[in-house]
Amino acid sequence: MKIILAGGSGFLGRALATRLQRDGHAVTNLSRHPRPGVDADLPWKPDGTAGQWATALDGADAVINLAGAGIADHRWTEERKRTLRSSRVLATRSVVTAIRQVARPPALLVNGSAVGYYGARGAEVVTEATSPGADFLSDLCAEWEREAEQASPVLRVALLRTGLVLHPQGGVLEKILLPFRIGVGGRLGSGSQYMPWIHLDDWVEMVVWLIANHTARGAFNATAPTPVTNAEFTRALARAVHRPAFLPVPGFGLRLALGEFANSVLVGQRAIPARAAELGFEFRFQTIDAALADLLR
Ligand SMILES: NC(=O)c1ccc[n+]([C@@H]2O[C@H](COP(=O)([O-])OP(=O)(O)OC[C@H]3O[C@@H](n4cnc5c(N)ncnc54)[C@H](OP(=O)(O)O)[C@@H]3O)[C@@H](O)[C@H]2O)c1
Repeated sequence: MKIILAGGSGFLGRALATRLQRDGHAVTNLSRHPRPGVDADLPWKPDGTAGQWATALDGADAVINLAGAGIADHRWTEERKRTLRSSRVLATRSVVTAIRQVARPPALLVNGSAVGYYGARGAEVVTEATSPGADFLSDLCAEWEREAEQASPVLRVALLRTGLVLHPQGGVLEKILLPFRIGVGGRLGSGSQYMPWIHLDDWVEMVVWLIANHTARGAFNATAPTPVTNAEFTRALARAVHRPAFLPVPGFGLRLALGEFANSVLVGQRAIPARAAELGFEFRFQTIDAALADLLR
C-alpha cells in the first residue's frame, strides 16, 4: 500500500514508518524540514492550504496525520498555546484540503488526537462516548477532530485519542526514567490521578489494525485496557528498575515549574479502549508491569 504520514518524523511516526516499511508498504512523510538522506521525506507547509505536495495523496491508500508542535516541550505561554493549537488545526486543514482536491483520494484518514479531549475526570471511567472536557487541551483536541471530520464525506476517518505512549526513547518515560534509575523518582502530586498509558508497540499495531479494518471509523482511545493511577505507575516503574521511589513531587512545585502544563500531569483520565475492544483489537501489553518489563529489560 501507499501510505502518507504527516509529522511522521517524530516519536510515534518513526516507529510507525518502520513497522509499515517492514511490511513492504511505501511510506511518504510530509515534513517541514525533510531529513537529509531520508528519501521518504517530502517537504510541505502545513498552513491550512494544499501545496505541490498534495499530488502525493493522489492514488495513495491512507493518510496518517500526527503533525503538531510538542505539547510538553515548552511552558504554556499564551503564544505557545496558539502554536500548539494552530500547528494541529492548520496541519489537519492542509491534509483535508489535499484529500478533497485530488482526483483519486485515499480511503482512510487516521488523525491524531489525545485523551486530553476528555479533560480532568478523576476516577470516572472514560470511553469514546464520554463528552469532552472544558480546558485548553480538551478544546484543542475537539477543534483538531472537527477539522479532520471535514474529510468524512470523502473517506473513512478514524480519530486516535492517544494516551501516554511508553518507550524508553521518547515521550513521558524517557523524561522520567533517569530520576527513577538513580532512585529519586516518586509520585506526582497526590498520585491519585489516572495515567492512560499504552506500550509503543500496541500503539503502532492499533494504527496498522485501523488501516486494515474497513469498518473502523470515528474515535478510538489508543490506551491500554488497564489504566493505572500515578501512584501505581510509580510503584511499577520503581519495581521495574529495582530502585525505591519515595520522593513525591508536590503539586504546587510542579505548577511552579511547569505552569499550566502541570495540570496535564496532575489530572488524568481513566480512559479505556472500549471501541477497539468492541471491534476485536488485541493488546499485547495489558498490564503496566508487563509493558515496563518489556520496555526496560
Ligand atoms: N507521544 C505521546 O505520548 C502522545 C500522546 C498523546 C497524543 N500524541 C499526539 O500524537 C502526535 C504525534 O506525537 P509524537 O510524540 O510523535 O510527537 P513529536 O515527536 O513531537 O512529532 C510530531 C511531528 O510534528 C511535526 N511538527 C512539529 N511542530 C510542528 C508545527 N509547528 N507545525 C506542524 N508540524 C509540526 C514534526 O515533524 P516535522 O518537523 O518533520 O515537520 C514532528 O516530528 C502529536 O500530535 C501528539 O500531540 C502523542
